Amino acid sequence: MKGNINNNNMGLGKSIKMYLTIFVATTCIYMLIYQYHMSTQEIDSNEVIKHQDKSSLSSSFASYFWALTSNGSLANINDNSNTIATTTSTAASSLSTVSLAATGATLMTSSGSSPPSSSSTSLTSSPTEKRAANTSKSLLTTAGATTTTTTTTIRTTTTTRKQTTTSTNTTRTTSTRGTKPKANQFGTLVHATSSLAATSASTPALGRVRRPREAFVPVPEPPPLYIITPTYRRPEQLAELTRLGYTLKHVTNLLWLVIEDANETSPLVFDILDRIGVPYHYLLAPMPAQYRIKRFKPRGVSNRNRGLAYIRANATEGVFYFADDDNTYDVSLFEQMRYTKMVSMWPVGLVTNTGVSSPIVRDGKLNGFYDGWIGGRKYPVDMAGFAVSVKFLLQRPNATMPFVVGYEEDGFLRSLKPLSNDDIELLANKCTEILTWHTQTKKNPSAIALNQTRYGGTNLIAIDKLLVRS
Ligand code: UGA
Ligand code: MN
Repeated sequence: MKGNINNNNMGLGKSIKMYLTIFVATTCIYMLIYQYHMSTQEIDSNEVIKHQDKSSLSSSFASYFWALTSNGSLANINDNSNTIATTTSTAASSLSTVSLAATGATLMTSSGSSPPSSSSTSLTSSPTEKRAANTSKSLLTTAGATTTTTTTTIRTTTTTRKQTTTSTNTTRTTSTRGTKPKANQFGTLVHATSSLAATSASTPALGRVRRPREAFVPVPEPPPLYIITPTYRRPEQLAELTRLGYTLKHVTNLLWLVIEDANETSPLVFDILDRIGVPYHYLLAPMPAQYRIKRFKPRGVSNRNRGLAYIRANATEGVFYFADDDNTYDVSLFEQMRYTKMVSMWPVGLVTNTGVSSPIVRDGKLNGFYDGWIGGRKYPVDMAGFAVSVKFLLQRPNATMPFVVGYEEDGFLRSLKPLSNDDIELLANKCTEILTWHTQTKKNPSAIALNQTRYGGTNLIAIDKLLVRS
């Protein structure tokens, strides 16, 4: 009897195993057939493609699940998730071609120098800093402009493969709603496009068509601002630079030193900087190898020291400020900091439980510092919380930022000695306002690879080239 029961149990176990194997095998075959079918199929005009999950594993499961339910009512169950639905139609491919052509055909930039006091400001395009090697592959475009308070003349020279076209335009537009442009406001200079640029229109990311870059020639008033922004390659990079760049666009007489922790420049970063239209230099400063392998890295230090070197070599007047690419800035802060005589400081809103990092002001004087972590620092301040005069820096030839995690700000400020607390100017209404925030963007994994077969001939092929993958 016992033996019989055992035999029966074994038989049952074997058949369960067999059925399971058949089920798994059928499922796999179904998945393969489905994948093949989808990659060869035209995109259905009513097809709804959801943004995919972050991990490629979960996304492939998601798409498989979606496939199983796409014809049934279960498909709607996915709709209450917080993903954004995107509709793709067959018209997309032809539309994308048109819009890309338009991008190449309209070269837009804006001038950052038309101060009211100067009757004539000459802008020349002779960057003292050389661009990194890989830009030589791309078409070289330089722009020179002469600006007066009443007229604007732009000369754009485009050179490629021994062909030269020159175009001149004097269009001036303003973004204010129907009001007259104020004399000290930015004018937006619309560069006339050469037929060459229009015909060779391609994805800007390929770097074949370079928009004219604004050259920066500082004017004495208001004092020039040098904004040193460390950046590095990651999926959020272009979003951060876009936000910061359009903030800086509100500020006149400003040079944006965008310094990447990398060995080569990125055409995508060039494209974004050109599109924003703030005068900039895009420089490289890779983190030294001995720090890169560490668990806690001194982030942005080589970049900032590169910025200091640029200022020592090129600037004589004005003020500089370390503006990390991921923080948030009120434009009025820039207008205050540009009059700094030595060093100025102000509160920085934090996204930590301390809430703020700030100088403590008692009876109108600097009386210490409030910060979540003091750590034996003489200046327990945030990187976004101070600015320094160029002249003051030039008088301190040894000032530098140390590669010591957590002590970057303190080390740099100490290296500016002699600096007395009485010399530190307290901005933001004697440090009673928060005009900048140390924000942090959630880190995202790189986007999954686009299925080139499935989406061949659509706009997604072009868009895919615009994504930064780390
Ligand atoms: C904080 C400070 O505010 C930074 O000034 C300081 O450099 C950093 O800590 C540190 O002590 O290491 P946090 O927001 O934590 O900043 O750091 P990130 O925003 O990741 O990096 C600061 C800057 O360096 C950013 O502009 C970022 O683009 C750049 N960075 C970051 C690099 O250039 N390379 C990297 O590998 C990481
Ligand atoms: Mn940050």
